[in-house]
Amino acid sequence: MKPVIIVSGKNGQLGKELRDIASSYSNFDFIFFDKNELNIADKSSLQNIFQKYIPAFFINCAAYTAVDKAEAEKENAYSINAEAVGNIAKQCYQYKTKLIHISTDYVFDGNGKQPYKVDDITNPVNYYGYTKLEGERLALENNADTIIIRTSWVYSKYGNNFVKTMLRLMNERSAINVVNDQLGSPTYAKDLAEAIIEIVNNQYSVNNIQSPGIYHFSNKEIISWFDFAVAVKEIKQLDCIVNPIPTSAYPTPAKRPSYSAFDTSKIAGTFNINLKNWKASLQECLAQL
Ligand SMILES: NC(=O)c1ccc[n+]([C@@H]2O[C@H](COP(=O)([O-])OP(=O)(O)OC[C@H]3O[C@@H](n4cnc5c(N)ncnc54)[C@H](OP(=O)(O)O)[C@@H]3O)[C@@H](O)[C@H]2O)c1
Repeated sequence: MKPVIIVSGKNGQLGKELRDIASSYSNFDFIFFDKNELNIADKSSLQNIFQKYIPAFFINCAAYTAVDKAEAEKENAYSINAEAVGNIAKQCYQYKTKLIHISTDYVFDGNGKQPYKVDDITNPVNYYGYTKLEGERLALENNADTIIIRTSWVYSKYGNNFVKTMLRLMNERSAINVVNDQLGSPTYAKDLAEAIIEIVNNQYSVNNIQSPGIYHFSNKEIISWFDFAVAVKEIKQLDCIVNPIPTSAYPTPAKRPSYSAFDTSKIAGTFNINLKNWKASLQECLAQL
């Protein structure tokens, strides 16, 4: 029997990218669930799924990701990003399932000046970041064998994201304003999906690398949202003017960290993962849009 890999949140950016590449890994039996098929906040649904499939892996791509809305919908955000993750970890512990859970750069306050290492002090500046940090804590508290991958600025040809919003706005308007004082690194969800599969594969290789704990994953190099938007414009050869503005000129309900770049050396070194440059990955994604 092939090892079963359960993936929650199959209609999200990461869930869809995982679905696209899963067919290339016929040594695993991937089973994907959307919110209706498996609501991770529903304890008994979780129990039923574990009992039925006894998975070797559970990849949690489900999350409450509406950063601004989370300021008002606190209970819902906490239930999905924190409580549910604790319950998944408990089930994983009971069934000896390896949990791969996805977290965020928003666990940091952004006051750092150097790329954040996995053990740097966390201090979220918005409620979404707080719920994701609680999810990390509950995952590790209930199952010390969990692998947590923090990622940042995720985009894909799927779902709603910065790249697709920029494309739409640049086609509709002659000029747009984009903040240039928030620095970080974009993550192409397809690259993250491939890294996750690489981690899964590592557990089955002769190396048998288990290595639980927290990891950071993004594409390489540090840029601003303005740099990101300009790259979209240049690659797509659009005429729209992109103006740099400070964050203070673009108020949002949830505060964002002004710096959230990652030190990704741990994931690269532990699992032998080759991190791609952000622009090369952006080009690959835009070629499909
Ligand atoms: N997007 C980013 O920029 C970013 C940055 C850093 C970290 N991350 C993390 O990366 C991971 C993947 O993000 P993503 O961009 O792929 O997110 P996404 O596109 O928003 O996908 C999340 C998926 O989870 C589903 N979901 C929500 N509540 C659920 C529940 N109770 N049970 C089951 N499924 C549920 C959503 O369904 P509905 O849409 O129907 O609600 C959606 O399909 C998340 O953990 C996120 O926190 C994302």
